[in-house]
Amino acid sequence: MPLESLLTGDYEVDPTLVYERLRARYGPVAPVDVLGVPVWFVLGYDEVLHIMQNARDAWSKRVDHWRAYAEGGVPADWPLLALLQADNSGFHDGDRHRGLRGAWIAGLRPFQDPGGEQAQRLERAMVRHCDDLVDVMAEAGPTGRADLAGQYSRPFPLLVANHLLGVTIERGEDLLEDQWRLLDGSDSAGAYQRLHAALLDLATAKRQRHGDDLPSYMIEAKPDLTNEELARELMMLSGFLDFTGSLICNVIVEAITNPRLRESLSIGAIEEVVNRVALANPALANLTLRYARMDVKLGRFTIAAGDPVMLSIAGAHADPRFAGAFTSDNIRSTRAHLAWGAGPHRCPSQRLATQMSTIAVRRLLDRFSVLTPTLPVDRLPWRPSPFVRALRSLPVTYEVSTRFSGTLRPARETRGEPSPPAVQDGGDVRPRSGLVTFLHGLRRGQ
Ligand code: HEM
Repeated sequence: MPLESLLTGDYEVDPTLVYERLRARYGPVAPVDVLGVPVWFVLGYDEVLHIMQNARDAWSKRVDHWRAYAEGGVPADWPLLALLQADNSGFHDGDRHRGLRGAWIAGLRPFQDPGGEQAQRLERAMVRHCDDLVDVMAEAGPTGRADLAGQYSRPFPLLVANHLLGVTIERGEDLLEDQWRLLDGSDSAGAYQRLHAALLDLATAKRQRHGDDLPSYMIEAKPDLTNEELARELMMLSGFLDFTGSLICNVIVEAITNPRLRESLSIGAIEEVVNRVALANPALANLTLRYARMDVKLGRFTIAAGDPVMLSIAGAHADPRFAGAFTSDNIRSTRAHLAWGAGPHRCPSQRLATQMSTIAVRRLLDRFSVLTPTLPVDRLPWRPSPFVRALRSLPVTYEVSTRFSGTLRPARETRGEPSPPAVQDGGDVRPRSGLVTFLHGLRRGQ
């Protein structure tokens, strides 16, 4: 049967229309072509949830369970192959997966424990990073133009990553720039290699000298984790932080284009907007592949053992059997969405990612009294990707809030003078010069 391509121009402009066309033609499971390779695209809510929850028995995440791959039928240069071959927790099953996942859960715990010291330090760091990004955007004056995707929502999680990784600011600059290049597609192969080498060094250093950071906590939780394994796990951070940047950007769009929302944006209200945006426009729209371990009847088809499925979170959320439920007074909660996954691979970092989104949006709205998109929402440019739903840019005009304009710090680096270290609340000393230079680079690259 000739297969429809998933990633067409239509998909880039409005994936929802493509999901609906596939659903109307095939039902909850559609045979599609993803960049030349046949894949079962699962877009029924019940089917996606069922596969996520039954991962251990019927489905595998290991690429060597893919029949076509094992038989040499997947071209070596297929663009998604390197990702699927990655040797990390996202692509393992069973005990290997459980052990690595346990290290993540333990490593993230101190940052996600609301009353804990680490979580509070991280929260203060997040607010500072938001302020740094706003300061650089607003240097042109109290009113002007900015790109909230390139200058705010994408760099913010990378700054948070340095805090999680427990790196010094000098080392952090290189990591930041390479993570940026990796996500941006500019010199991504070189960036991948440098990033991997840097994370291997970091893993080695943290094993010798523990700190209050994610790699040290992961080593503590799983002492038999080798440095190489830890570096491979930490490589996943770039992707996860990219999803977080996309979610933040999608929430900003909602917050600045819905005038009623802006009036009532308390922290609780922003958290609810984050939840609604995660449902209506999930940053991680489709997941990497899973492979059937046996013949399975799904929708109108039988998926043969060894066939790949791509679970579509965005497709599942648009499924009338799920989305239609919200219109009546039934008991299904909007929190039953799948944006964080479900079952044994469910995201262990939901709280942290939600907190990052809430703080980033709240701080932006505090610091700017006016933020107006310069393009209609339906003309905003999206990045082409089978996995993420992320804006390429979010151009706006802004007005700095007078409540905060007095606090803008002058950018000394641009005049050749290094910034003094800034002493922050909580006593953290923060040398800003390298960081601000990096942020200026982003602005020049616009
Ligand atoms: C908006 C941001 C994020 C979204 C939408 C998201 C979503 C998800 C989803 C859907 C999965 C399940 C994938 C699957 O079943 O195939 C997942 C897994 C995972 N996420 Fe997140 N995530 C986000 C941010 C983060 C962050 C910031 C971190 C780490 C700091 C993180 C760490 C992980 C890990 C380690 C896994 C693999 C879990 C496993 O395989 O057991 N995520 N995430």
